[in-house]
Amino acid sequence: MRSWPRRRPASDGAALTLPAVAGALPPAGPAGQAGLAGLAVVARPQREPIVTRAELALAFSTLIVLAGVVLGSALVRPPPAVHTAAQFVHLACVVLGLGSVLAVDWFGLRWQLGKGTLREVVTTAAALAVPIWLGLGGLMLSGMLLSPDYASTITLVKVAMVGVAGVVGVLALAVSRRLAARTTPSRRLLRAGLLMAATSQLAWWTATVIGFLNRS
Ligand code: HEM
Repeated sequence: MRSWPRRRPASDGAALTLPAVAGALPPAGPAGQAGLAGLAVVARPQREPIVTRAELALAFSTLIVLAGVVLGSALVRPPPAVHTAAQFVHLACVVLGLGSVLAVDWFGLRWQLGKGTLREVVTTAAALAVPIWLGLGGLMLSGMLLSPDYASTITLVKVAMVGVAGVVGVLALAVSRRLAARTTPSRRLLRAGLLMAATSQLAWWTATVIGFLNRS
C-alpha cells in the first residue's frame, strides 16, 4: 500500500485524520480485513502545548528572583539619599515597564477592534520585550531599596502582583513566539494570548495603584 505523506497542521489543533482518498479504504469482509492490517495507523497528533514545561519552569523561576528581592529588602536599610534615588529609579521603571506593556496591549486592542493585524501585535511584543524586562527588573531592584513594609497587607498583595507580572510575562513571550510562527493560530492559542494580556494589565495596574498608596 502506498504511504501517504503526513503533515502537521498549521494550527496547534488536534484534528488530523487519515486522508480521505477515493479507493483508499479497503472493502468489507476478509479481504478488507487483510487490507486493514496493511493500513498504517496514524496516531492523532498530540495537541501542541500552549507553553512547554521548560517555559513554565522558567516563568516560575522569576518567583525565585522575587523571593531574593523580598529577602534583600528585609536585610537592607539604605540611607535617605539612596532611598530618594531609588524612588526616582522606581518611578522611571514604572514608566518604562508599564509603558511598554501598555504599548503592546494597545496594538492588541487595535487588532481586536479590527484596526490592525496580529502580526503587528506579535512584532511589537517582540520589540518591546527588552524594555518590559528592564522595567520590571529595575522595579524589583529599586523596590528592594525602598524599605517595603511587609506587615501591611496591601504591600503583600503588591508583591504577589509583581510575581504574577513576572510569571505571565515569561509565558506571554512563549505564546507570542508561537503566535508568530503560525499563519492561522488556533483559537486556543489566541485565547491564551488574550488571557495573558488581561492578567498582565491587572497585575501591573494593581502594583502601580498600591505603590501610589504606599508612597511616602
Ligand atoms: C510591577 C512592579 C511594580 C510597580 C508597577 C510599582 C509601582 C510603584 C509606584 C507607582 C510607586 C509610587 C511611587 C511614588 O509615587 O513615589 C511605588 C512605590 C513603592 N514601591 Fe513599587 N512597584 C513595583 C514593584 C515593587 C517591588 C518589587 C517592591 C519591593 C519589593 C516595591 C516597593 C515599593 C515601595 C516600598 C514603595 C513606596 C516608596 C516610598 O515612597 O517610600 N515596588 N511602586
